[in-house]
Amino acid sequence: MKHQEYNRLKELVELHILDFLPEIDPKSNTLYDAMRYSLMAGGKRLRSVLLLAACEFCGESANIGLPYACALEYIQTYSLIHDDLPAIDDDELRRGVPTSHMVYGEAIAILAGDGLLSAAFETMNKDMLLYLDDPEILNRKVRAAFEISKGVGCRGMVAGQVADVEAINCQCSKEMLDYIHLNKTAAFIRSASLAGCYLGGGDKERLNDLSIYGECLGLAFQIVNDLQDITGCEKLIGKKQGADCRGHKCTYPTLYGYRESVEKAAELLGRARSVMEKYYDEAEIFNAVIDSLEKALVREDEHA
Ligand code: IPE
Ligand code: IPE
Ligand code: MG
Ligand code: MG
Repeated sequence: MKHQEYNRLKELVELHILDFLPEIDPKSNTLYDAMRYSLMAGGKRLRSVLLLAACEFCGESANIGLPYACALEYIQTYSLIHDDLPAIDDDELRRGVPTSHMVYGEAIAILAGDGLLSAAFETMNKDMLLYLDDPEILNRKVRAAFEISKGVGCRGMVAGQVADVEAINCQCSKEMLDYIHLNKTAAFIRSASLAGCYLGGGDKERLNDLSIYGECLGLAFQIVNDLQDITGCEKLIGKKQGADCRGHKCTYPTLYGYRESVEKAAELLGRARSVMEKYYDEAEIFNAVIDSLEKALVREDEHA
């Protein structure tokens, strides 16, 4: 039942994911093809589902969050295209298919990422323009877009990616590792939850609870990603296993060891669960995401 609810929102995103892309001149077909290729390769659509779930959780229909949810998928896909480039993680496989630069070459992959990132902000701005006469709704949308901008930019995901690259081949401190993971991954996941809350007109308490939920979930999510790099199977994770080790990355398992990393992720998921406990069934989708990460932890532990 819980997963059906997650899938309901995921299907909504997938149904409309191309609808909000700007119209592109046919002379730029290569750009559109490359953007579409990575966007349609699949993915869990976690951030967009969280945004829509938060919107509903705060009493609004998911439809009002749809342009923002699709914008998050444009940003997520851009971030993966760039993350996989030879200059960053140098990965050949993503979402079970060859990475953008393997198919289109590096120049087009960089530009497809740029195209997706700017399409996200164009999509959100275009939606805001429709509400210039409705200051209350416009206020919610501006706040949502601002939250997303902060989460994915140079005091969020991009800052984390820079620190991640700088930590290659280094014995980084635990504090630095948390800085990396909180920024490269948790900031975006937190901002997706908060943006949905703003769009849904949530009160301060819900904003605060979703902020804690998003941050704990986001950090646990990256720890699970680190663990899956060691024990995950290629078919399930859609990427080559062992990339962190080959790239001499600083990860939770390299710093804490495998077992302690599993425990830390489980503890974070417990914190995320406890903050949403008082909402009972209203928090169904948020709990479903925790369940699936807990299951992944058990699965990885069995393979360790
Ligand atoms: C991968 O994110 C990058 C990280 C921040 C760990 P996801 O695991 O959510 O990737 P998709 O969108 O499902 O492919
Ligand atoms: C990716 O982190 C974070 C992004 C901002 C894209 P990783 O490099 O650890 O994630 P994977 O292993 O490529 O999915
Ligand atoms: Mg990376
Ligand atoms: Mg990577």
